[in-house]
Amino acid sequence: MNIDLAVWIPAGRSRGYTRLLVITKPLLGARVDQQALKEQVAEAALERVAARHNDRLLLGIGTGTTAECFIRTLPAIRSRIEATVASSERSAALLEELGLPVMDLNSVGPLDVYVDGADEANEQLALIKGGGAALTREKIVAAASEEFICIADASKLVHVLGDFPLPVEVIPMARSHVARALAQLGGQPVWREQTITDNGNLILDVHGLHISDPLEIETRINQMAGVVCNGLFANRPADVLLLGTPAGVEVVCGSTLS
Ligand code: 5RP
Repeated sequence: MNIDLAVWIPAGRSRGYTRLLVITKPLLGARVDQQALKEQVAEAALERVAARHNDRLLLGIGTGTTAECFIRTLPAIRSRIEATVASSERSAALLEELGLPVMDLNSVGPLDVYVDGADEANEQLALIKGGGAALTREKIVAAASEEFICIADASKLVHVLGDFPLPVEVIPMARSHVARALAQLGGQPVWREQTITDNGNLILDVHGLHISDPLEIETRINQMAGVVCNGLFANRPADVLLLGTPAGVEVVCGSTLS
């Protein structure tokens, strides 16, 4: 990917965060569908990972269609990858198919970088994840990683989280109990029938939440008996968000500007 130009966008400099628009290979006139945007941010993530100083990379790998685009870029740096840790069986299968080394997190210790998509992101880099039901392993791998690079097309950036139903992974026997507790919180939980997580649990998707304080909601839901994990990533937000736009990749990251 050629980086031609970088511009600071003042509108994003509120609350200590900065949005940086990096004009990459122009997509205008070429394919500008959602898949092209995902491939564009996947390439940008690969460049960021490749720019790290380590010779032997320990990579955390996410789940979903955008993460899959990233996985497909990895053979280009195959010789530098010591190990990958996948956040789902599905991503592990694709990594193995591409001949990349997949290991158990317990065997590799802390990871250098985690790359994954999101269902929604705000400008503080808090996320909703779990549309693919992999939220628990995603949260574990993100927590074990020094840097979390989130990749998404620009439609995922929102002002307030919650339009996307918040996934909550629950122990099967606690499904109704947790659903009542989530309703008390103001949401409308819907059981994602037919879905069993890689951990053998169920998913409740909580509609109708207006999440203005993601950390508080993440903490409150985690305290409900029977909840394994919820899809809010506010306690461990992304460190950088790469957004695919037709004009280029927009980088949202922590800033020294305020
Ligand atoms: C899976 C996830 C995904 O990152 C999220 O659903 C986004 O997926 P996609 O890249 O397919 O839009 O959290 O559990």
